[in-house]
Amino acid sequence: MITSIDQNTKLYGVLGNPVRHSLSPLMHNAAFLESGINAVYLAFESIDIKSAIQSMRALDIKGMSITIPHKSSVIPLLDEVDPQAKDIGAVNTIVNVDSKLTGYNTDAAGALRALEEATPVSGRSCVIVGAGGAARAIGYILKKNNINLIITNRTQKRGKELSKALDSRFIEPEQLKDIDTDILINTTPVGMSPDTDLCPVPEEALKQEMTVMDIIYNPGRTKLLKTARDRGCKIINGLGMFIYQGAEQFKLWTGQEAPVEIMKRVVEEALYNKE
Ligand code: ATR
Repeated sequence: MITSIDQNTKLYGVLGNPVRHSLSPLMHNAAFLESGINAVYLAFESIDIKSAIQSMRALDIKGMSITIPHKSSVIPLLDEVDPQAKDIGAVNTIVNVDSKLTGYNTDAAGALRALEEATPVSGRSCVIVGAGGAARAIGYILKKNNINLIITNRTQKRGKELSKALDSRFIEPEQLKDIDTDILINTTPVGMSPDTDLCPVPEEALKQEMTVMDIIYNPGRTKLLKTARDRGCKIINGLGMFIYQGAEQFKLWTGQEAPVEIMKRVVEEALYNKE
């Protein structure tokens, strides 16, 4: 086990703005320690994506998580972009091998793994609530996995654009209560701490036997998930997606399977056992 930082320690990090709330450093440092890898992972708060990427090359930073607001703007700065990340239009992971920077998107795979842990996916129907970056990544991977997709969004224009890009159907939020679906995924920030009383869909939209996933992980049980549980749905919070997108990053960086149990434990402790 690595007990100290020395001349061989490899550097990783998360680049975004704001980034001080990020739990990625906690999660990845725990994973490196558990796996006996001589590496550290720091949070870099920067709005200057161009200089930050240059620094990555200059200082031989081996890998970077990319978060808001840089997931799209980083793409032209990279040497190569994985086809899936290119299709999604967002990179959340950079791998640096001998100064060659390659971008990936692990959000999509993370969401799929979290969903598949709870319910079979292929051939089922799914409503995605929201049409932002997260909706795009999740919608993309679900389409690839043979899901019959419906998009709903507060702003019709954005919702229709995404549904067209994903070759799926758009419905207005008011139509949600009349839709029969196997899976419903909230990708909006509605219900996130501190506005925990808000729910992104009407209660009647949540029907028994449905699987309801919220990509929010703080609080661990949103109003949406509480309501869904009360109405007999299977529920999944955003913790799994967060951990599994990190596990995919770890694998890209180290070539090893990530110690997901440890990663989950440290994040859960930080989020839910604060007092
Ligand atoms: P991300 O990249 O995390 O997905 P985003 O691109 O800002 O974030 O997208 C946020 C999504 O949540 C959008 O679909 C947004 O709806 P609009 O397109 O109408 O803006 C949705 N959203 C945000 N706040 C919302 C609210 N209060 N009610 C309903 N939808 C909301």
